[in-house]
Amino acid sequence: MHDASSSNDTVGSVSSSSQPGQTDASDQLGLGGHGGHGGLIGLMAAMPQELQALIDLMPDESAVRRGGRVFWRGHLHGREVVAVLSGIGKVAASITATLLADAFGVEQIWFTGVAGGLGAQVRVGDVVVASSLIQHDMDASPLFPRHELPGLGRSRLHPAPELTRQVHEGVAQALLDVHQHVPLHALGLPQPRVHLGLIASGDQFVASAEDGETLRNHLPDVLAVEMEGAAVAQVCDAFGLPFAVIRTISDRADASAHLDFTRFVEQVASPYSLAIVSALLRAQVG
Ligand code: ADE
Repeated sequence: MHDASSSNDTVGSVSSSSQPGQTDASDQLGLGGHGGHGGLIGLMAAMPQELQALIDLMPDESAVRRGGRVFWRGHLHGREVVAVLSGIGKVAASITATLLADAFGVEQIWFTGVAGGLGAQVRVGDVVVASSLIQHDMDASPLFPRHELPGLGRSRLHPAPELTRQVHEGVAQALLDVHQHVPLHALGLPQPRVHLGLIASGDQFVASAEDGETLRNHLPDVLAVEMEGAAVAQVCDAFGLPFAVIRTISDRADASAHLDFTRFVEQVASPYSLAIVSALLRAQVG
């Protein structure tokens, strides 16, 4: 079993030759596409704890370094996967997604992480699956309408409906017995619900009621805000890759501190992500 944190750039890096199972990227990138059912799945985790939980379940993982990132390639529930930390913010996540698409040739990308809840019904501990994504800080007006992606003529990107339907169903299923892994009551959390809708991404951690309100005013149907999803969507759009963005709500994007963030990620978001990804892989989604 490998330790993601010991090999991750954000907490220090190791040379590619000094770790068992770790090789240079050029040795085993698996260049070329993996079209068709059962191909390579790219798993982007926002948090090191989430990534570690995935690695711990892989019987045969090996690390591949590329672009300052460590990609963990192996099997999860019998499916071939590459798991990697996304990096924080749109640019970092775009680099990671581009490498998954172009260097590893993944067939699809699933992103898991946390987000701030903006929709009225979205509570801390709920999960939001994106049916559309927008970069809330994209504004090239007056050259283009606010939020429009220059060159694409669109402001919202939509994951493939069939994958989104399968993911929505899989998440709902996974959350049914999540109380077996997460002490919801002790943490003061309700039974989680899953929501499907708009996720807004931008290079900003939204931590004031005023900023949250501004986002709601511009995007009345927004459910959640985070810092990477819509960028990954743009990369997947460019490469023609199916993708899913799945976010556990860690806060209400306001000044109210709920639980300790690290504790939330360790005790709630990380087990949720693992349960969700495992359920999706077992159901052979994609
Ligand atoms: N990720 C988790 N909570 C967030 C917030 N409030 N703003 C942006 N990204 C987040």
